[in-house]
Amino acid sequence: MALRCCFVVLLLHLTGKVFLLDSNKFERVVGDSVTLPCLYENKQSNVFWRHNVSRNVLNIVNGQLALQKQDTIFQNRTESFSSGYVNGDYSIMLKNVELIHSGNYTCFIQESNEEKKLQLFVKEKPAEPAQKQRNSSMETQSLKIMTFLTALLGLTLHFI
Ligand SMILES: *[C@@H]1O[C@H](CO)[C@@H](O)[C@H](O)[C@H]1NC(C)=O
Ligand SMILES: *[C@@H]1O[C@H](CO)[C@@H](O)[C@H](O)[C@H]1NC(C)=O
Ligand SMILES: *[C@@H]1O[C@H](CO)[C@@H](O)[C@H](O)[C@H]1NC(C)=O
Ligand SMILES: *[C@@H]1O[C@H](CO)[C@@H](O)[C@H](O)[C@H]1NC(C)=O
Repeated sequence: MALRCCFVVLLLHLTGKVFLLDSNKFERVVGDSVTLPCLYENKQSNVFWRHNVSRNVLNIVNGQLALQKQDTIFQNRTESFSSGYVNGDYSIMLKNVELIHSGNYTCFIQESNEEKKLQLFVKEKPAEPAQKQRNSSMETQSLKIMTFLTALLGLTLHFI
């Protein structure tokens, strides 16, 4: 169990990006962007994006973005891809996320009365010594690969 946990953590480190195995969960650090997917097979519908049940993220009404009732915490932070609407792509991008943007997002498809649920976890940016970051990228990379291989070996042994 512990090994598997380490393995996942290592993978996250290696890619330099956090991805979770559950495709409905997203993890980001403060300042990042995240694209929350929402696809509707039947293509045409009004779509209401909400945060923590009731907070208005944005609406798409009659194929148009409607921001009049957008909550202030989402102002100037959302992007929607209007060229995708005809194909039923109602995904949105949140930019420059803050801790407050954590929580549950729902993409409500009015036509079919469906709710797609997504969860976003926003974490504080880890405080890193500035010097280390600058000059040792090659070094840390090979160190990461070494640790990765070690963990992989450990994992393999674990299953034999
Ligand atoms: C969003 O941008 C507009 C125009 O740049 C600005 O007037 C408004 O104050 C901004 N809103 C927030 C919440 O930052
Ligand atoms: C939404 O819910 C999450 C999880 O409970 C919380 O961390 C976040 O602060 C909430 N955000 C708002 C704006 O209510
Ligand atoms: C978000 O959804 C999860 C899982 O459905 C639930 O456990 C949690 O309480 C919800 N959080 C909020 C702030 O609604
Ligand atoms: C490492 O830092 C030194 C001085 O701080 C600099 O001269 C050198 O170009 C840097 N090397 C790399 C690979 O960035």
